Amino acid sequence: MSRQLPRGRFRPEAPVSPPGSGRNHMTETQRWGTRVGLVLAMAGNAVGLGNFLRFPAQAAQNGGGAFLIPYLISFVFMGIPLLWVEWAIGRHGGQFGHHSGPGMFDRLGRQRWLKYVGVFGLFTNLTIAAYYCYIESWTVAYVFHSIGGTFKSTDPKTFFPHYLGVHESSLFALPGEALAFFTITLALNTFILSRGLAKGIEVAAKIGMPLLLIFAAALAIRGLTLGSHAPAVVQSPLDGLNFVWNPNLSGLGNPTTWMAAAGQVFFTLSLGMGSIHCYASYLRRDQDLALNASAAGWINEFVEVILGGTILIPIATAYLGLSAVQAATSGGSGFGLGFLTLPTLFNNWGWFAPIAGAMWFGLLFFAGITSSLAMGQPLLAFLEDEFKITRARAALLFGAVTFALGFVCVWLYPGGAFDEFDFWTGTFALVIFALFESIIFAFVFGMDKGWDEITRGAEMKVPQAFRFIIQWVTPAFITVVFVGALIQPVDGKWGHALASLFGGHGWPLAPGSVIGKIFHIGGSYAWRGPDGRLTAEFVQDATRLLLLLVFVAISLLVAIAWRRKARAAHPGTGHGRGHA
Ligand code: PHE
Repeated sequence: MSRQLPRGRFRPEAPVSPPGSGRNHMTETQRWGTRVGLVLAMAGNAVGLGNFLRFPAQAAQNGGGAFLIPYLISFVFMGIPLLWVEWAIGRHGGQFGHHSGPGMFDRLGRQRWLKYVGVFGLFTNLTIAAYYCYIESWTVAYVFHSIGGTFKSTDPKTFFPHYLGVHESSLFALPGEALAFFTITLALNTFILSRGLAKGIEVAAKIGMPLLLIFAAALAIRGLTLGSHAPAVVQSPLDGLNFVWNPNLSGLGNPTTWMAAAGQVFFTLSLGMGSIHCYASYLRRDQDLALNASAAGWINEFVEVILGGTILIPIATAYLGLSAVQAATSGGSGFGLGFLTLPTLFNNWGWFAPIAGAMWFGLLFFAGITSSLAMGQPLLAFLEDEFKITRARAALLFGAVTFALGFVCVWLYPGGAFDEFDFWTGTFALVIFALFESIIFAFVFGMDKGWDEITRGAEMKVPQAFRFIIQWVTPAFITVVFVGALIQPVDGKWGHALASLFGGHGWPLAPGSVIGKIFHIGGSYAWRGPDGRLTAEFVQDATRLLLLLVFVAISLLVAIAWRRKARAAHPGTGHGRGHA
């Protein structure tokens, strides 16, 4: 058990709605129904497409076992500490009736700008939801196509691009079927969200997570037992497993491997997004967070490394060979293998093929929806808490805005809008938010209050070393990742880059680095091509502008909400902090 600090010593102003009293009828405090439900919902939040598509691809691209060691170190020194920090910020904010970023961050200190840092916690969720729900909708469509046997008759090489409406000659696409499934998927998300925490999200997690585990285990076992005598098998699936799991120290000295590992830890644990804060804000003041957070985090790692590492790569290795698998995951995305290759490989399994397809895409669907619900809830909470909008309306609003933004991803998919969303919001914005929050937690909120928040009610002994790690190691770690992403050199060759710098030849910035992307380094840059048609660079810049506008729009909403609250608290003056 943790040592408890004297009661009241670090207690801030009294909470707005102490449990059971003075509840506002519009924003009655929601709570998790059961502990199992809480942990499953949090695990469902973390376990997502990232575990089954992104992890195997990142591992394959970064040397398999060489990736795993930086990955596990990042998990311990950055992942676990940030989980505790996010749960703590969330539970603390919830005591004041705030269940989304701006209100929670406002409660961490006296500075007015803090609430605008919290905007990241809405922005990232909304913009990730836009493209994430699109991928989720592919899984729904693919369940039907698997059962219907579509992948037998059509060449899958053409099915996936055709489904997305990708044509080489155009930057735009209006794929009818994809849009229909996207609409259905969003409607389902909206419906579940409108039912609330315990009756909606928790029920979805209690159904989705066990099914996901069963499907994943079945596919993993089938894949690993593919003997060399099975038709079409070219290599042992165990070679694929060995590649991912055989630890290899060579990655330790490669900053690019470290950055990929840290990026994966962020994405897979849903860190730096605001969704964990939101789920944690429905905890009671003294409810354990240390053990619950660890449980959810470790469940995610089990699903990612053990199950996620045992399906895509071993099966694809068995039929294609390891080098083809590595080639197919270039760019670190598992879409090609997951949506193009795997459905056809299942065809080697006879009567089991449609079932295997339905299980694979079914598990991706459950992984996806329990995550996309976690992206929606902070936005609903923001509208409910700060604008007193009813839950049903907030859910509809979320569905509508996500559809509008998602439509941009669908329509401009061939032009690269989807990739822009994925990079700026799903890869970069989270690092900025995490950097801010780790520093604010340790130095603005303060480590004394912070440590009390993490250990209060804890059902495990949080090792004292983590106090130091959270204050110093984690922020330093994230800073290094952040700077690394800004200035990543060509081909990830840091040694060469340093030699070049000191040799007076400048820093060879990679086109994929953040600065490289901003300035469109390493290619022609024009909004119109020689034929007068719009270019991919135009689509990229337009998408970036759109994302920026979304951020500004949410910040404006925050400003309006707080101004209103200030007016309500101090009628007639128009001043005040709005801590009504
Ligand atoms: N962690 C999820 C995954 O691995 C993604 C996610 C992002 C979930 C943002 C919630 C919020 O796929």
